Amino acid sequence: MNPPATPNVEKILFTEEQIAARIGELAAKISRDYQGKTIKLIGVLKGSIFFLTELARRIDVPVKIDFLGISSFSNKSGAPGVVRIAKDLDESIEGEDVLLVEDIVDTGFTLRYLLQTLAGRAPNSLAVCAFLDRNSRRIVQVRLDYTCFEIPDRFVVGFGLDHNQLYRNLGYVAVLKP
Ligand code: IMP
Ligand code: MG
Repeated sequence: MNPPATPNVEKILFTEEQIAARIGELAAKISRDYQGKTIKLIGVLKGSIFFLTELARRIDVPVKIDFLGISSFSNKSGAPGVVRIAKDLDESIEGEDVLLVEDIVDTGFTLRYLLQTLAGRAPNSLAVCAFLDRNSRRIVQVRLDYTCFEIPDRFVVGFGLDHNQLYRNLGYVAVLKP
């Protein structure tokens, strides 16, 4: 394994090779599950874009792509969980087979909000594909249909995930030094 390319990285959790292999497996499963259908991949900006593009290239049923952007706030007591759509989809999802693509599911607040919002727009089906799952911190129970990796309770960056908007372009997933 190559040494970390940035001094702030404590350790690499998943290498580029491991990520590519796992996405290949997931894309094959998704392609089987959606045989005969067209998938509408919806990426949540900005963290999911690296994962979404790699996944989309390796799925072999027809794929459409759209994006939405969200803002998360803490409420007055400082608790997380207030989410709103800052950039909506360009197109309707009515009647479509939607696969929502997330970078990481942590507490689950973001995903619950997105699933409720999208479900109200009458898609034919609605499923979730998350790159990372930090199940140990889940507060809201949400159904993940596809996940690449489960991760421990550490803050991670790379392959789309940021810290203060940095590190998204790392090819691997890493734990930052505290
Ligand atoms: P949730 O609503 O708590 O599930 O938060 C999910 C969102 O928090 C993700 O979409 C990320 O944008 C962000 N997030 C959570 N954990 C991490 C992390 O370890 N690194 C980078 N972003 C994270
Ligand atoms: Mg996100």
